[in-house]
Amino acid sequence: MKEQLENIKELAIGDFLNAKTQQDVETLRIKYLGKKGALTAILKQMGSLSAEERPKFGQLANEVRDLISGTIEKRITELKKEELQQKLGSEKIDVTIPGKRHHLGHKHPLSKILDEVIDIFIGQGFKVVNGPEVETDYYNFEALNMPKEHPARDTQDTFYIDENTLLRTQTSSVQIRTMEKEAPPIRIISPGKVYRMDEVDATHSPVFNQVEGLVVDKGITFSDLKGTLESFIAALYGKEAVVRFRPHHFPYTEPSAELDIQCFSCHGKGCRICKGEGWIELLGCGMVHPKVLENCNIDPEIYSGFAFGVGLERIAMRRYKIDDMRLLYENDMRFLKQF
Ligand code: DAH
Repeated sequence: MKEQLENIKELAIGDFLNAKTQQDVETLRIKYLGKKGALTAILKQMGSLSAEERPKFGQLANEVRDLISGTIEKRITELKKEELQQKLGSEKIDVTIPGKRHHLGHKHPLSKILDEVIDIFIGQGFKVVNGPEVETDYYNFEALNMPKEHPARDTQDTFYIDENTLLRTQTSSVQIRTMEKEAPPIRIISPGKVYRMDEVDATHSPVFNQVEGLVVDKGITFSDLKGTLESFIAALYGKEAVVRFRPHHFPYTEPSAELDIQCFSCHGKGCRICKGEGWIELLGCGMVHPKVLENCNIDPEIYSGFAFGVGLERIAMRRYKIDDMRLLYENDMRFLKQF
């Protein structure tokens, strides 16, 4: 039996040293040390030994088992190392190859301008309020002193969902929603999309963006309106920008005005850009009509306010010298990359 044991030892060590993969080692481990393995088989025969021989043989058997286990461990470590070397050899990385450049996107010019406009007004103490784009006839027209059949509605024809529900034509609807909910002092701007039945051309789109402003408090006058808008224009276009207020009519303001900015190109003389006018129309504004305040349960004897509405595309076009509004919507990367 002792010879058998020596035999197994020799064979096992030879086998393990020749094993080529970790899987080979595992198969061999079962062959020698497993339940039905060669070493186990010999140990089972120990019963036939004399009481004297048994412990000696037992000790020897343990030594052989330890030796085999040690060989297994050693071989596994070697194989792991070999596999790693092989892998490293086959997966060479060339750190000198130039990297792939990721093209970072950036904000759309309209979003950039909107961020700027919001910043300017927040600096003046305004807060930003949003309203729904699908609006009721009441908030879009009626409460703004434009009852059904009012001729001013004709200039703002829109898309109707049903008789009383429409896509809003102006962000002015947010004035009403805010005044219904909040007591003065109110100082808000409301940016957002608006919709009108317009054919697409260089200066028109059936969907565009407005920013509405509203201030209501005790003692608000036309001077507040002028000061606020003049400093807005100065912040946006620089102090040298020249503006004028021209009388106008909006049903929801009295008096009403339009703010024009002097043409950058000809400085008021008249040229192709301002279509010979010398001035470019920028926004509508006025003192909130007493009826509008009353519609929102604000007493016009105590409070007064001003409001304005400005087209975001118009601001962006002036600012970036874009002569066709469609460029802002077509998402041509060659155009957008310039901003
Ligand atoms: N809603 C007007 C428009 O779409 C702009 C406007 C004018 C808004 C005067 C106002 C305002 O709040 O007071 O042309």
